[in-house]
Amino acid sequence: MTKHNTIAIIGGGVIGLSIGWQLLRRGKKVDIFERGEAGKSASWVSAGMLAPVSEAGFEEMDLLQLNLASIEQFPRFADELKEDTGIDIDFRTEGTMMIAVDRDQSEHLRRLYEFREKIELPVEWLTGSEAREREPELSPAIKSAVWIPNDYQVDNRKLIHALIEAVKKLNGSLYEQTPVESIETSGKKLTGISANGEHRHYSEVVIANGAWARSIKGLPEDIRPPVRPVKGQILTLRMTDDFTLRKVIRSPEAYFAPKKDGRLIIGATVEEKGFETYPTAGGIKDILESAWEAVPGIYDLPLEEINVGLRPASRDNAPIISDTPLAGLYIATGHYRHGILLTPVTAYEIADLIINGKPSELIQPFSLLRFK
Ligand code: GLY
Repeated sequence: MTKHNTIAIIGGGVIGLSIGWQLLRRGKKVDIFERGEAGKSASWVSAGMLAPVSEAGFEEMDLLQLNLASIEQFPRFADELKEDTGIDIDFRTEGTMMIAVDRDQSEHLRRLYEFREKIELPVEWLTGSEAREREPELSPAIKSAVWIPNDYQVDNRKLIHALIEAVKKLNGSLYEQTPVESIETSGKKLTGISANGEHRHYSEVVIANGAWARSIKGLPEDIRPPVRPVKGQILTLRMTDDFTLRKVIRSPEAYFAPKKDGRLIIGATVEEKGFETYPTAGGIKDILESAWEAVPGIYDLPLEEINVGLRPASRDNAPIISDTPLAGLYIATGHYRHGILLTPVTAYEIADLIINGKPSELIQPFSLLRFK
């Protein structure tokens, strides 16, 4: 089968789908290949937090800039999705609170607060009682908190649903249950992919299959993206009439993302367990114990789901949003803890890169070549 004008995208999670959708919007044709069901891997097992400020790392200034750029693009991205599908992805701007439940945690939180203040991120220090005034479900044991007005959230499952609809509406092809085994080359030229045992010709291919990116065969070692799976266990409770949480709450060991439909997502473990995808008693116990300490009212809430996802983490934990030495081959993976947040910037930037042939300054620090 020859499809020289069509771009192949390997991976039907939020990253692959959104790149496909943005290419369709720019008049390109796309075929998206997903090994399972679209959006049902890491994208599904997410809390949908958009947290550039709460998750800012001491040595990660380039990543912070990328994260901030992406959250700024979210309203436009959500509007475009609504325009194409009519689906609202619940982009919520109630903000985020980081909390400390004991003295040690409070000292640590102070350091996180001072770092953010120093680099001029919008943060506000709160006492325990000020924090409880803003979120009455918080435990009376809360010692202190940091208010982060500009860290938001979306409903990741609505986002997935909207992206699948958008790809279909714009006549993209989505092949589910279709694993891509290898990238095919001839000499130094990309010739296509092999999917479900069948060779297909493409001159442009995007690798966007998260933690599985490294297992695609046929790539020279220096082009294989150095990503590994990082297991996250997460659970979903159902909020009742007498329990209301509106903001995202983050304690050092658990976070809470309340959704408009009444779900309360609580996460997450961070475990180096390869491709293991079963939940463990210990993992769920740890999350629930820390969560209950911060918000005791969760005790009586119905437990609806326990899920496990595999975050794709690169060697330096920053994403790879990049062209490669193999002309026509692009990589978008390694989004680690920021997959949902980085969806807009990755989609816009990879689509522009394919069309303009040149990476923007914003994504240059996230080139594959940094691992040479
Ligand atoms: N960003 C939240 C997580 O990876 O668990």
